[in-house]
Amino acid sequence: MSVVAIVTGGAGSIGRATGRRLAQDGFTVVLADVNAPAETIAGCVFVRLDVRSAESIDELFRFALTLGTLQAVVNTHGILHETPVGTFDEDEIASIIAINLTGTARMAHAAGVHLADDGALIFVSSVTASIGRAHGGYAYLATKGGIESLTRAFAVALGARGVRVNCVAPGFVSVPMQGSGAESREKRGGAEALLPFTPLNRLVTPVEVADAIGFLCSEQASGIAGVVLPVDAGQRAF
Ligand SMILES: NC(=O)c1ccc[n+]([C@@H]2O[C@H](COP(=O)([O-])OP(=O)(O)OC[C@H]3O[C@@H](n4cnc5c(N)ncnc54)[C@H](O)[C@@H]3O)[C@@H](O)[C@H]2O)c1
Repeated sequence: MSVVAIVTGGAGSIGRATGRRLAQDGFTVVLADVNAPAETIAGCVFVRLDVRSAESIDELFRFALTLGTLQAVVNTHGILHETPVGTFDEDEIASIIAINLTGTARMAHAAGVHLADDGALIFVSSVTASIGRAHGGYAYLATKGGIESLTRAFAVALGARGVRVNCVAPGFVSVPMQGSGAESREKRGGAEALLPFTPLNRLVTPVEVADAIGFLCSEQASGIAGVVLPVDAGQRAF
């Protein structure tokens, strides 16, 4: 019987790197996203998913369970749109919350029902959950803080049956997010402007984030639950 992992946001930079890493670790990986990935990755299959729809999530889990035992669910989906302090765009804020936070909670609920008893549920937050400097995207920041709260709530609730729930908090990654990721970074001086706040003096890569996720999904992390693991070249410590 195959061991299966679902990766939402599977067409994105971190999602694809995570798919590659988990496939190397022996998982059959379901990359799930509103968009198809730009490449095919050995050991991964693609399924269209919109985390705003409970039906779409049900279909995703139904399909994943036909492939084998569901051992890992990794939520890397997300959107970043500017919502600077001083503005209040009700629709924009609602759409960010619907995907980043409500969509993640919906995925976590389904994972709680369908994951194997010793499975792993992984969230992805951001260094921006714990710093105020990135206030140009305050709605995004708030959703990332919410994801860290979901991590603790689900870790406590699902721990009794052996499911380990953890979160990876990337710093600013070498590949900006789609949407306004690149634009808002450039507006603030690009990657260069972030280095004074980054002890390792470089941005982390999608592969480094994926490696932390792979570790948290593995047996080597069997004693780890409810943590938020920064992968940020030291940005949170600054
Ligand atoms: N890139 C960075 O600098 C950075 C930094 C910190 C945290 N993060 C977090 O890491 C995660 C992955 O980011 P990334 O850099 O790979 O970004 P990305 O923009 O490359 O990938 C995000 C993916 O989510 C998908 N998505 C959007 N709406 C969706 C929906 N409704 N249903 C399903 N999928 C949907 C997109 O299609 C995209 O493929 C995100 O949660 C992001 O907040 C990224």
